[in-house]
Amino acid sequence: REAASASAPGKVIIVGEHFVVRGSMAIVTAIGRRLRVTVESGGDGIVLESSMLGRHHAPLPGQGTAASVSTVLEPYMAVLRSLAARGYSVVPHRILVESKIPPRAGLGSSAASMVAYALAYSAMHGDPLSEEELYSVAMEGERIAHSRPSGVDVTIAVKGGVLAYKRGEEPVRLEQRLAGVTLLIADTGIERQTRDVVEHVLSVAESLGEASNHIYTAADVISREARGAIERGDAERLGLLMNAAQGLLSALGASSLEIETLVYRMRRAGALGSKLTGAGWGGCVIGLFREEEAESGLRSVTGDAAQAFTASMAEEGAKLE
Ligand code: MEV
Repeated sequence: REAASASAPGKVIIVGEHFVVRGSMAIVTAIGRRLRVTVESGGDGIVLESSMLGRHHAPLPGQGTAASVSTVLEPYMAVLRSLAARGYSVVPHRILVESKIPPRAGLGSSAASMVAYALAYSAMHGDPLSEEELYSVAMEGERIAHSRPSGVDVTIAVKGGVLAYKRGEEPVRLEQRLAGVTLLIADTGIERQTRDVVEHVLSVAESLGEASNHIYTAADVISREARGAIERGDAERLGLLMNAAQGLLSALGASSLEIETLVYRMRRAGALGSKLTGAGWGGCVIGLFREEEAESGLRSVTGDAAQAFTASMAEEGAKLE
């Protein structure tokens, strides 16, 4: 029996979600909540055990029918096929997922699980994937989880830190100079499919026509300025830009009553900026708070949020454990 473990961080998109799907810049940070995958050879077929998603079993690829595979396992199977295509042998194994990242909340748990799984599986075979390979292999899983991933979630899970990300370009690692502030994350508790929100936003943009071009252009400017604010350590400016980004996301139909409630609770409690993060409709809202006001920020969302916590930024990327 052989085994290996790897972990990857969750993430928060500070600005630029949705716009990144059509080529604008997004600014994203890895957070101090991680997901760990242990892969252990043996058993019969593939068994996934996750405290959050339950227990699932599938036959090895090529044995048994596709219809018998649970949707939870499908992205893992896509990763496995991609590993097989790179010469890794396919053996029966158990996948144990331990996670501190709430699933389906916009915090990148699915990308983190694909990345950690690919790294652990390849390490179990004595040949851990490089960063570039890890990205390509994990993207095969993300494509199953949602239709048109921009790649931002997988990239941050692999690399960690704070990144300026543009589709098809090499991500730029940012020097994070914000001091005396913290991110508050509040979960609406509403689960939604990233794919559905992405399709909706794209269709609203198309119906809006010319006006939506200006919205996308404004979003790109906001992301560029947010990058500058992070590198200069200008938290007030960043907060202002986050609020503006929220307005644009709302214009394209990514927000909801539950999101707006948390957004305004945070602003009333002193947030420098607050907005949805990830796909929207449900999932999480983030607020940028001065450290001394984070406690009142936390209090302001109890009652409306399913859970809330503060998170450190610029955390480490994927690693073997
Ligand atoms: C999801 O975390 C971010 C979206 O922009 C989708 C994507 O970039 O693939 C909504």
